[in-house]
Amino acid sequence: MSKEISLATVKEHNTPNDLWLIIENKVYDVTKFRLEHPGGEDSLLDVAGRDGTKEFNDVGHSSEAREILKKYYIGNLAAADISKKRVQLVPRPLKRAMRPPPPPSNAAYCINLPKVPSC
Ligand code: HEM
Repeated sequence: MSKEISLATVKEHNTPNDLWLIIENKVYDVTKFRLEHPGGEDSLLDVAGRDGTKEFNDVGHSSEAREILKKYYIGNLAAADISKKRVQLVPRPLKRAMRPPPPPSNAAYCINLPKVPSC
């Protein structure tokens, strides 16, 4: 069975010489890969100690990159932390912003369209 690693533990490994990150609920220790990364050290440091799934996918990494990833796999994100992470990642719907604006009041309508018969 693969090792379960908590989010709190991953967070502790957030420095250049001790660099863990999460991609698709799997934890990777990329300390040794950091200087070899074709996308640079900084992009890995940006997601050090946290979830980098979005950043990793946004770049559109190749299948070769996914192969490399396997070398640095150290365990799975603890099940209890997977839901926590989702809560942080999925923003609440902006209910108010999504509502259509109210129809213009009759007064405003009349100002803009003076020839409407009801005005
Ligand atoms: C530890 C996981 C990662 C591995 C194994 C990895 C591996 C690679 C590899 C092999 C490439 C060369 C292109 C390709 O084959 O797709 C690449 C490019 C790149 N990576 Fe990563 N990467 C990782 C994480 C990240 C993260 C988290 C970011 C954050 C933004 C990132 C940003 C980039 C960028 C911007 C390039 C493009 C470099 C260029 O074409 O100039 N990578 N990566």
